[in-house]
Amino acid sequence: MKNLLSLVLSSLLMVSSTLAATPDEWRGKAIYQLITDRFAVADNSPPPCDTLQLRRCGGTWKGVTKYLDYIQGMGFDAVWISPIQANLDGVTTKGEAYHGYWVQDLGRLDPHFGTEDDLKELIKALHDRGMYIMIDVVVNHMTAPAMPPQFDFKNFFHPFSDQSYFRPPKCWTNGSMELDILQNCWLGDPTLPMPDLDTDQQRVVELLYQSIHDLVQKFDIDGLRVDTVKYIKTDFWPGWVKSAGVYSIGEIFSNDTTFVQPWTEVMDGVMDYPTFFYIRQAFEKAEGPIQPFVDEVLREQKGYKNGLSLLGSFLENHNNPRFMNVTQDMALAANVMTFPFVHDGTPIVYYGQEQGYSGGEEPFNREALWLSAYQVEKPMYQHFKKLNAARKAAAAWSKEFLSTPLKFLSVERTSFAVLKPPMLALLTNAGNHSYGITWTVPDAGFSTNEVLVDVLTCNIFKANEDGGVVARSAGACRRWSCLHPWSPKLASCAQSWRKLWRM
Ligand SMILES: *[C@@H]1O[C@H](CO)[C@@H](O)[C@H](O)[C@H]1NC(C)=O
Ligand SMILES: *[C@@H]1O[C@H](CO)[C@@H](O)[C@H](O)[C@H]1NC(C)=O
Ligand SMILES: *[C@@H]1O[C@H](CO)[C@@H](O)[C@H](O)[C@H]1NC(C)=O
Ligand SMILES: *[C@@H]1O[C@H](CO)[C@@H](O)[C@H](O)[C@H]1NC(C)=O
Repeated sequence: MKNLLSLVLSSLLMVSSTLAATPDEWRGKAIYQLITDRFAVADNSPPPCDTLQLRRCGGTWKGVTKYLDYIQGMGFDAVWISPIQANLDGVTTKGEAYHGYWVQDLGRLDPHFGTEDDLKELIKALHDRGMYIMIDVVVNHMTAPAMPPQFDFKNFFHPFSDQSYFRPPKCWTNGSMELDILQNCWLGDPTLPMPDLDTDQQRVVELLYQSIHDLVQKFDIDGLRVDTVKYIKTDFWPGWVKSAGVYSIGEIFSNDTTFVQPWTEVMDGVMDYPTFFYIRQAFEKAEGPIQPFVDEVLREQKGYKNGLSLLGSFLENHNNPRFMNVTQDMALAANVMTFPFVHDGTPIVYYGQEQGYSGGEEPFNREALWLSAYQVEKPMYQHFKKLNAARKAAAAWSKEFLSTPLKFLSVERTSFAVLKPPMLALLTNAGNHSYGITWTVPDAGFSTNEVLVDVLTCNIFKANEDGGVVARSAGACRRWSCLHPWSPKLASCAQSWRKLWRM
């Protein structure tokens, strides 16, 4: 089984471990996001981890290296790890910097996660498997344990060891969505301020460009996830992305396409937050509103530079309650978590989704994964494995799969179809109580009576006379089988698909 999987994967990989990865080389990848402190420890005595304590739990880069089989076993071929640079040490009013986002030194790694050799070993291990590394970076600000003058900039903040590199602390961003406030005030609060780098100064800009260039080169990084992007003006970013020289995807937390749009012009991609809000709304309870979600995806297809194909498509991350915190309906979860794999962007799965983790708001959504014992037989683990395999097969089958924008077909009150040739996904938010959902897709684009394979069950179906599909969820939707991504032309591989998925 392993051999078959790697056969499918290896035919698609053109990875060089010495060349940085361009946006185009990221097209078709599937990303697994993890928090280093919470993903894995390298020795065999996993420590307890109470998220509420806000303390380090002991995960390391060596731990990640040790569990790459677990990640690759689901079919992911890129790993996004939390920030690596040296963070504020000690306990603050908001706990310890276990997550890595309280950076103080751009030139040094955080010793809590391991040594330089440990990180290089992880990246080499990924490259040896034909996988990519994506590093999370914070560019907008640094983090201090107190306000100046209690906090002395000189002893910290390499290479910005002087207060003059920062904007004066006049105001706090405090959740505002007004650009003027976001881009001129400080994040944080007086007990844990995040001094705002003054990117209106040319010397600050140059140091930031140089620093990201050096980091990418030194560690052979393939891609960057960029934190708090909206807090820096758009004209800063093209030069930064160019200095990085690798695929850079920005976090712009907003549910508004118009707000996010300008950053799609200056970065290779953005996290698809607007769709995240609408799709969660549609699926967080049975029969939620589908049309606003559909409208949002279409709005982005029209409005974003690069279309959608370099967006990061996700259901969970470290900043929002997990989906299964909101509902325990597995039919909803399985359906909603399918969407990123048939969306135009890059699917991103947040560690723990595959184990059915259900933590709420921060810090509850940052559970230690070792407490799950890394069970590969969990339903969601198996689900992601099938979805990744199906997406790879579709991309291998048709070059257009990754570059053709998806189309919504047959949008009904509790069901819809997503066409991304050669794949047709039939999804429903009817939930686990409903029976016999029917999808009638007259214009699915298949040929007359074409043989189709349900990539989740391996059942064989036939398109009808006019190349459309009529499908009915088998019995109750309380089972996984109410998901029906279909694919044409896979009949001849049905045998191998069967082998691939029956373990
Ligand atoms: C942020 O806003 C909240 C609610 O308006 C307010 O109570 C708090 O004092 C503000 N914090 C700062 C640092 O301005
Ligand atoms: C988007 O954000 C606005 C403002 O916070 C809010 O009123 C609205 O309900 C949000 N819409 C969705 C779909 O999340
Ligand atoms: C069905 O969904 C409800 C929530 O709507 C949940 O409480 C229940 O556990 C679910 N049952 C199954 C079998 O998934
Ligand atoms: C959801 O998160 C909250 C904490 O924010 C927690 O108390 C609750 O138990 C969680 N629900 C589930 C189902 O895990």
